[in-house]
Amino acid sequence: MLKTFIQLLGDDAPVFRRYCAMALAYGVLSGLTMTALVLALGRLLAADTGGAALWLLALLAGLVACWAWRRQVEKAGVRVGVTILQGARQRLGDHVARLPVGWFTPDNTAKLGHVITQGMMNVAQLPAHVLTPVICGAVTPLVLLAALFALHWPLGVIALLALPILAGALRLTAHLGQRADDAYHRHFASTSQRLVEFAQAQSVLRAFNGEGGGTRFLQQAIDAQRHAGTRLIYLSALSTVLNAWTVQAIFAALLAAAALWLNTLLGGAAGTGDAIAVIVALLLVVRFVDPLQEVASYGEVLRGARGPLDAARDIFAVQPLPAAAVPQAPRDGAVELRGVGFRYAQDQADVLTDINLHCAPGSMTALIGVSGSGKTTLVRLIARFFDASQGAVLVGGVDVRHMSSEQLAGQISQIFQDSYLFQGSIADNIRLGKPDASDAEVLEAARQAGVAEIIARLPQGLDTPVGEGGARLSGGERQRIAIARALIKDAPILLVDEATAALDAENQAAIAEALARLRGKRTVIVIAHQLSTVAMADQIVVLDGGQVREQGAPAQLRARDGLYAHFLAQRQAAKGWRIASAAPQQ
Ligand SMILES: Nc1ncnc2c1ncn2[C@@H]1O[C@H](COP(=O)(O)OP(=O)(O)OP(=O)(O)O)[C@@H](O)[C@H]1O
Ligand SMILES: [Mg+2]
Repeated sequence: MLKTFIQLLGDDAPVFRRYCAMALAYGVLSGLTMTALVLALGRLLAADTGGAALWLLALLAGLVACWAWRRQVEKAGVRVGVTILQGARQRLGDHVARLPVGWFTPDNTAKLGHVITQGMMNVAQLPAHVLTPVICGAVTPLVLLAALFALHWPLGVIALLALPILAGALRLTAHLGQRADDAYHRHFASTSQRLVEFAQAQSVLRAFNGEGGGTRFLQQAIDAQRHAGTRLIYLSALSTVLNAWTVQAIFAALLAAAALWLNTLLGGAAGTGDAIAVIVALLLVVRFVDPLQEVASYGEVLRGARGPLDAARDIFAVQPLPAAAVPQAPRDGAVELRGVGFRYAQDQADVLTDINLHCAPGSMTALIGVSGSGKTTLVRLIARFFDASQGAVLVGGVDVRHMSSEQLAGQISQIFQDSYLFQGSIADNIRLGKPDASDAEVLEAARQAGVAEIIARLPQGLDTPVGEGGARLSGGERQRIAIARALIKDAPILLVDEATAALDAENQAAIAEALARLRGKRTVIVIAHQLSTVAMADQIVVLDGGQVREQGAPAQLRARDGLYAHFLAQRQAAKGWRIASAAPQQ
């Protein structure tokens, strides 16, 4: 827990260390002040006014010092909280920004959102509200322990034994609630995810989920979260009660020992001094148990804060892709895969096996294969979303692991299957590929990608807002803008994951034209679904079950009665079907 705190604070960790040292000192000071109080009372009861006055003076000084020091500790705690709010989010963000793009799954993104918002708020409040009483509550009894030993060693022994017993009880109850807490946080993240889905995918939910389908998944997630929450509340209450009982049992044991001591004293020839010692010991026992009570009552709050801290720790534990010590610049637009194998997780099967592929600069390679054959994964490896598990991916003759992420990013433009457009105008979205592009450059890229026809139809032209995620445009229009964005970024390699959805003839032609224009100018690697695209390629690679089954020029493959010939026959049949079904309307 402390380690994660220090990790979250990074360079600001001394702020936290200073605060801890101050809280520890406060605990010692409180312990000493309480001892002075007890001793002053002892002297008073013994009618030693001189001694009592001295201890009272010490007590007064202790009280003033405690009051002043406590204020400093609280200020230091608030400073830690503010530093966490200001710096830890930034630190998490900086770390996440260096993680492989493949890390950003919906699950991880939801977890990150939860930690950065609510989680960091909870953690920031810890020092001022919880850690101060807990640290003091743990240190003060240690000081009083010495006084108890000095007064009557059996009491000291019981008090000494009580500390590990309480620590054990706290651990046990923390363990009890931990799983419930984990479950609650898991359901919380899942509900957040469902909530976003609910807002974004209403049409799909309503169309496919039957009556009440629009809310079903969200409702299920909320129900699961409520169950987990109720369980957590029950277990938390039980833990608090168990912790409190442990402290009460310690108190009872100490009282019983004191009573036994009194009994033996009464049995023998006890003097006033002995009676006073018992009273003083009882007072010490009360002061000893009080801070422990406080520690016990905060046990649950502390455990509750572990959730976000553990989540932050897990995020920090994800290693960014290793950076090259001496980055090498790529030489040209060539792409090569040498014996590449890949699996998404250690315990999963290989998704790609022994892939060997060479794409010469300026050539066009079409990747084809059934769904799940590993096409997207292969392209992701070229863009270094992940590192290959075996073999090497070379871009411009250099292993992608030996170049900086900027060098690699500068070498590659990408067009994804589901191109995301950012809120803003069409021009803003195109300019993302080259922020300092002039208006003329934006227009030229728009023209090349077939966006010119779209903007000619729109009253605001290039300045037309695309809506969130490009919601105001059709799928084909979105893809064309994404192509313009990729074209304006003048990178030697273009990776394209072509839309699977059958595009209308106009969009299909615009995209094919844009790709055709790039022939010989850029190395294009395209996951092709349209026949027109496949026909343009210099080389075709057929993937099946994560392996290259066929590879060669289109004419060469067509001549074979293999997977490619089969793919062609299927596509042509589909095309024929579309033309035939359209014919009667003409
Ligand atoms: N993030 C991921 N984690 C684990 N497995 C994954 C992940 N992404 C893909 N896979 C698995 O890897 C295999 C290859 O997936 P990939 O997306 O590369 O196929 P594809 O050929 O692009 O399919 P499609 O044509 O449907 O887009 C599939 O079995 C898929 O389930
Ligand atoms: Mg794919």
